[in-house]
Amino acid sequence: MKNYIQSVQYIQSVIGDFKPAVGVVLGSGLGQFADKIDVVHTIEYKDIPNFPVSTVAGHDGKLIFGLIGEKKVVVMKGRFHYYEGYTPQTVVYPIRVMRLLGVELLLLSNAAGGVNPDFKVGDLVAISSHINFIPNPLVGHNDEAFGVRFPEMKQPYSQRILDYVKSIADVKQGVYVAVTGPSMETSAEINYFRMIGGDLVGMSTAPETIAAVHCGMEVFGMSVVTNATSQTTSHEEVVKQGNLASERMSELFKKIALEFSSVAK
Ligand code: HPA
Repeated sequence: MKNYIQSVQYIQSVIGDFKPAVGVVLGSGLGQFADKIDVVHTIEYKDIPNFPVSTVAGHDGKLIFGLIGEKKVVVMKGRFHYYEGYTPQTVVYPIRVMRLLGVELLLLSNAAGGVNPDFKVGDLVAISSHINFIPNPLVGHNDEAFGVRFPEMKQPYSQRILDYVKSIADVKQGVYVAVTGPSMETSAEINYFRMIGGDLVGMSTAPETIAAVHCGMEVFGMSVVTNATSQTTSHEEVVKQGNLASERMSELFKKIALEFSSVAK
């Protein structure tokens, strides 16, 4: 907890009494949401004591504090992936920092492969649940200040936000299969993910969701389908497709932030 407190104290020395209620994590090529907010403060990860720094192309490393309407938000531009070599605990470090800053609602985005054959490149898919194959970030000592040893995880993604999104936008829903990467999936693995109930596959989000639920946040997750898993895809293509759908996703996140922040679950 000492490390977290040092990070939070540094951030608060910059942002003063600005207290974000909503946290947003922007995935590969999904940075456009940052353009929608009136920026009040920007802090580079490298300036925050104990904060990890990101290494992958297409991922910046900064926290952006600002306003959407009258709602205070903090946006993580650039996230940490297990495949980069971080421990599962380091991957979720910023999520816990956001919680300590006051964030109650976490909006997660990612670029994902479509496992469901109905999903097309560029589709937005609200994550209804996940199947996690990335090592669990809660393994090890449990700090009760964050949450309980055995947190409930049946429905980690907010049902009321899923219902809301369904009512206002033409988006699909699906189960996100989280894998370590960094190699892409074999055809046999894709077949297997489909068989076990997966609709999407990606290399993030589930660990962050687990840590966020553990420390009492309400979570909404959204994937942008950047490739159909039957075809081979370069990282550049993933980033490009993400950009195209990013605008629609940003609008949706804005609506959710305005509708749901500061409301008890
Ligand atoms: N697999 C895993 N991660 C991904 C994919 C994929 O097909 N597309 C974007 N991120």
